[in-house]
Amino acid sequence: MDSRTNPYSPGAGRIPVSLVGRDEQIDEWMASLQRIEDGLDSRPMALYGLRGAGKTVLLMKLNDLALHNDWITAFVEATSGKSLREQLSSAFESRLYDIAKPSAGQKVLNALKTALSFSATVSEAPALTFGIDLSKASGSNASTGSFSGDLERYVRDLSDASGELGAGVAILIDEAQDLSGGDMAALVGLAQAVAVRRMRVAIALTGLPTLPRLLAEAKSYAERLFAYQEIGNLGTPEALEALLGPAQSRGVSWTDAAAARVVRAADGYPYFLQEYGSACWLQADEPPIGVSDVRKAEGLAGQRLDAGFFRSRWERATEAEKRYLQAMAEDEDGPSRTAELAARLRSSQSSLSSLRSRLIQKGMIYAPEAGAVTFTVPLFARFIKRQVVQ
Ligand SMILES: Nc1ncnc2c1ncn2[C@@H]1O[C@H](COP(=O)(O)OP(=O)(O)OP(=O)(O)O)[C@@H](O)[C@H]1O
Ligand SMILES: [Mg+2]
Repeated sequence: MDSRTNPYSPGAGRIPVSLVGRDEQIDEWMASLQRIEDGLDSRPMALYGLRGAGKTVLLMKLNDLALHNDWITAFVEATSGKSLREQLSSAFESRLYDIAKPSAGQKVLNALKTALSFSATVSEAPALTFGIDLSKASGSNASTGSFSGDLERYVRDLSDASGELGAGVAILIDEAQDLSGGDMAALVGLAQAVAVRRMRVAIALTGLPTLPRLLAEAKSYAERLFAYQEIGNLGTPEALEALLGPAQSRGVSWTDAAAARVVRAADGYPYFLQEYGSACWLQADEPPIGVSDVRKAEGLAGQRLDAGFFRSRWERATEAEKRYLQAMAEDEDGPSRTAELAARLRSSQSSLSSLRSRLIQKGMIYAPEAGAVTFTVPLFARFIKRQVVQ
């Protein structure tokens, strides 16, 4: 069928027609916004999961919900190599322009002045100007150079301003496992200050499964502070809904056997469901999409996954790292014991440790517990087994 009407959305951060299986997180977020608007506290969320599980699109949805309620929001992706100060400065900017009016209340004007101060030490960004007179606003000094304190003062003033507007402040950070140690500690410190001072602030972080451990390493009390939830693969009914929903939106149905075959192949992973759904759509001549279409599409979907999702990661590994990944692949999707891997590679654990750290840094594997490693990419083992390493 026509690619122009293809309703599937394979690819990082592409919002699916049917965002399924995430009601719990969405309901919790909505309850948080409501509680904060009512002057109550709320728990920051830390959502973690494997590559392609649907973290980014969920976080984008949470951001949309806050924006829909007229909140002051910042959505940041922590990978871009910029400091959190710089990223938050620009992420808040557009909402601040919306609320910067000469008629704005005193707390809004103060927060705008604090925003100028917070962004003043960001070297490359052009200086913020709101085009209104802030000379009578008090604002806070948020350019002392101590990021943690500056962040707290900035967010406190934004929180006060949002109260004047009957809304709140939402901070959403994707790929949070890549925050620098200092930025991570400042963020956890902020979450604590939000709880203690009852600021009108909701925080949601998403990241790889290492996120809970990294937060706890930044500040030990992070363990009790955040509500942790895994963003995992979908159960069969949800996976079916994710597959059938987009086609239904175009008046197209699937036969039961065809849909069941795709759900099995995708193993409940949202990204794989979109890739298979898309390939089947393109292969089918007319509805309903049947088993013969799925058979034809399997090659195409497999090639796309190999060429994009898997190969782009595989090629980032050196030959030695590839051999390590191959040793891990013997345990399928893991986890693999590091002692066992050393034995397989006829090497010692200590001589493999820097190699292991590099793979962790590259985001390809993580340590779910001491002495074990596992892939961050679902079904990576099957791909690796098909590769030849020198
Ligand atoms: N709940 C869902 N229902 C249906 N499809 C989904 C869902 N969540 C994500 N998807 C689809 O899965 C794919 C991956 O989503 P997303 O980019 O959010 O994953 P991610 O966890 O952020 O991955 P990465 O770790 O690589 O950044 C996209 O094609 C998206 O459309
Ligand atoms: Mg993502």
